[in-house]
Amino acid sequence: MKPDPVAAQVRATAQAAGDWTALVEPMRGCTVCPELVAHRTQVVVDDAPAGARLLLMGEAPGATEDETGRPFVGRSGQLLDRLLADVGLDRHRVAVLNTAKCRPPGNRPPTRVESGRCRGWTERQLDLLQPSVVVPLGLSATRWFLGPTTLTAARGRVHEVGGRSVLPTYHPSAALRWGPGGGEPERLLREDLAAAAAL
Ligand code: URA
Repeated sequence: MKPDPVAAQVRATAQAAGDWTALVEPMRGCTVCPELVAHRTQVVVDDAPAGARLLLMGEAPGATEDETGRPFVGRSGQLLDRLLADVGLDRHRVAVLNTAKCRPPGNRPPTRVESGRCRGWTERQLDLLQPSVVVPLGLSATRWFLGPTTLTAARGRVHEVGGRSVLPTYHPSAALRWGPGGGEPERLLREDLAAAAAL
């Protein structure tokens, strides 16, 4: 893909932000992806409790996140909260981000251009938060960290990326799609969150 000057401009703006508050302001006003801007209610800037060492990374906000301005508060988020509690993790002490900050219309995945443009914001968020353990939820967040791979190949072990331990796992929506009980995706998601908690 050709370098995108708009992505470079986002990265430069993000890099210039010295702290979380300074970063959030231009993020909230970001207008670089026309289709997302036309459909979103607001930019979802993510949850970042001070001192969080564990960070969960999703893909993009859904309808409830777009309405409330907070990541993972819809059905996927409720399942995530329950599984975090099951393994002894308090959601209020965990950072929760998305690789893309605006809801794509119809819940389509973000395009490569949109993801590329949002990347600068997310990279700066990681720089500022400095989590030691990161759990990408689902394939697109996993690829954000590891590049081209499959979830089957990537999950079940710790990858060292940029000085952080990265443990890919299923997205909670995979467990919701399974139906009652959440099946194998829910079992493995719980197991992986427990492994992350142990780290
Ligand atoms: N799915 C995501 O990937 N992120 C959210 O915030 C909600 C649902």
